[in-house]
Amino acid sequence: MFLQHKVAVVTGSGRGIGRAIALRLAADGADLVVNFFRNRAPAEATAAEAQARGRRAVVVKADVGTPEGIEALFAEAEKAFGGVDILINNAASGYNRPVMEQKIKGWDWTMNINARAALFCAQRAAPGMAARGGGHIVSVSSPGSFRVLPDYVVVGASKAALEAVTRYLAVELAPQNIVVNAVSPGIVATDALKHFATMRQADVLDKIAAGTPAGRVVTPEDVAGVVAFLCSPAADMIRGQTILMDGGATLPLTGVLNESGRA
Ligand SMILES: NC(=O)c1ccc[n+]([C@@H]2O[C@H](COP(=O)([O-])OP(=O)(O)OC[C@H]3O[C@@H](n4cnc5c(N)ncnc54)[C@H](OP(=O)(O)O)[C@@H]3O)[C@@H](O)[C@H]2O)c1
Repeated sequence: MFLQHKVAVVTGSGRGIGRAIALRLAADGADLVVNFFRNRAPAEATAAEAQARGRRAVVVKADVGTPEGIEALFAEAEKAFGGVDILINNAASGYNRPVMEQKIKGWDWTMNINARAALFCAQRAAPGMAARGGGHIVSVSSPGSFRVLPDYVVVGASKAALEAVTRYLAVELAPQNIVVNAVSPGIVATDALKHFATMRQADVLDKIAAGTPAGRVVTPEDVAGVVAFLCSPAADMIRGQTILMDGGATLPLTGVLNESGRA
């Protein structure tokens, strides 16, 4: 258990991918700070599952889109465990509309939770990590940072910003032995998909799986495995990278080339 005696803060870890990451880090030995924003019950359930595996876990309600929420999250983590070794920026939200229907409020909301939070959570966490000899920060991005997905403009822009923040953190925090990276999964079947009209179509996940070279969509556990790897000594020389893990879905030039690869 390579994360034994380590403390991990996983933002948005009551549900979906965050929950899987938290439980994977707990399985690898970490104690947990389970963060939620609106849904306490699933966060309590995540914490209870970690505790059943012998880990310590606390639940903290905090909106990472605000400076007050970030301060509360780390103050609670330090009160419970004395410090933090691992930060996973997983929480995300989005104002999902076409370009011409976007509003400034939706842009600000999305950017603050998905991108600004990563910078200021890192800023809040880094001194404590350094005092403990170093740490790991992993953020969860999306291929919408470089591909164009339906209704995804502000989330895509926030994820592009998140990946840039990841590179800057990786360089500027390296002297404190803090390793910073991001992971970028393809489509994962979580509640998040309910917020996209395209993704609510009946057989859309089957179609995506059929168009994915690996033959299936990504699972929350797939993502958790790569995050855990990025927190391991084996990944020590990976810095500032965004690891695309989509089963090869973004590789084929579908719609431009036919099956024989000709235009
Ligand atoms: N699902 C996909 O296909 C997919 C693909 C690529 C990347 N991702 C990324 O993977 C991450 C997790 O996605 P998911 O599909 O698991 O999402 P999800 O099911 O919608 O869950 C979102 C999580 O974020 C939390 N959250 C939202 N706003 C928050 C805030 N202001 N402060 C603190 N927590 C907040 C939610 O907490 P509450 O429950 O309390 O609201 C929830 O735990 C996101 O970064 C997402 O962009 C997802």
